[in-house]
Amino acid sequence: MAEDKNETHYFLDGNPEELERLQLGQSVIKACMRKLVFAPVDLDKPGLQILDSATADSVWLRDVRNSIALSTREKDMFVGTDITNTYFPRPPPEGITLLTQSMTQPWPQEWASRFDLVHQRMALPAASKTVVLDALRAFVDLVKPGGWIQLVEPDHSIALGPAMADFFRLLSDVFKFMGTGPDYAPQLKKWLTDLGVEDVKEEIFDVPIGKTSPSDELCAQSARMIELVIKGLTQVAGSIHTSFSAEELHQLGPRIQEEVLEKGGVFRLHCVWGRRSLSEPRPAGY
Ligand SMILES: C[S@@+](CC[C@H](N)C(=O)[O-])C[C@H]1O[C@@H](n2cnc3c(N)ncnc32)[C@H](O)[C@@H]1O
Repeated sequence: MAEDKNETHYFLDGNPEELERLQLGQSVIKACMRKLVFAPVDLDKPGLQILDSATADSVWLRDVRNSIALSTREKDMFVGTDITNTYFPRPPPEGITLLTQSMTQPWPQEWASRFDLVHQRMALPAASKTVVLDALRAFVDLVKPGGWIQLVEPDHSIALGPAMADFFRLLSDVFKFMGTGPDYAPQLKKWLTDLGVEDVKEEIFDVPIGKTSPSDELCAQSARMIELVIKGLTQVAGSIHTSFSAEELHQLGPRIQEEVLEKGGVFRLHCVWGRRSLSEPRPAGY
């Protein structure tokens, strides 16, 4: 596998606290969603092949593999890919292959129609508006006919309070600057259906942030997670043109902490999954 597919960089790349944020995200999201795989994949099948694109530190993939019976793990193939290897655990986790690969670059030909499940969570805006459908089409091509694709993306149009609403507005500004969309999540179901994916289903989760969390531990974890996201985002926003003044950027982190700890917040996620058709080709135009 070539290691030179980083045609661009992840905008939080280089943030030393990103690893902590990823771990917190996994705890908070898992507590709300309750399971990791919604697509009805037979996880007990010997020789299971799963790809997690934009895997970061592979926490989702590790959790899934750890949940599978030891007896069925022998010939499985769990692959995590990411545009950067910055967050890959070293040495790699047992039974997991981690490779540098952008979702917007051609995938290895030998992976075509290979995976029982292709998964990606919270990374699709890395594919700009002009290439997002190409990226999704490429994911579908990696799934074996009859296999499954599962995508999880946030909907930033839902906020409980004004500070969180400002956070999402700033995120939209940064995404706009990057030429990408803040509004992918509500479109996933249609996009997959248009690509000929069958049995497309969606579940929407309102992940509680801060005071709305079901436990003190999750309250602290989710508030810290948002704190780290804002820190990385305001750093990026400070170096580009946004609708926020320097003072507003400076105040955003403390305002959000106050709001989520006193009133609580919400982070909406769309989980969408569907099955690659057993019969090809795809609808015309796709
Ligand atoms: C918010 S993190 C999500 C990580 C992981 N999926 C999770 O849910 O814990 C976004 C990830 O997308 C990766 N990424 C950004 N652009 C990418 C691209 N073009 N191709 C593949 N991965 C990319 C980043 O390096 C980062 O690890």
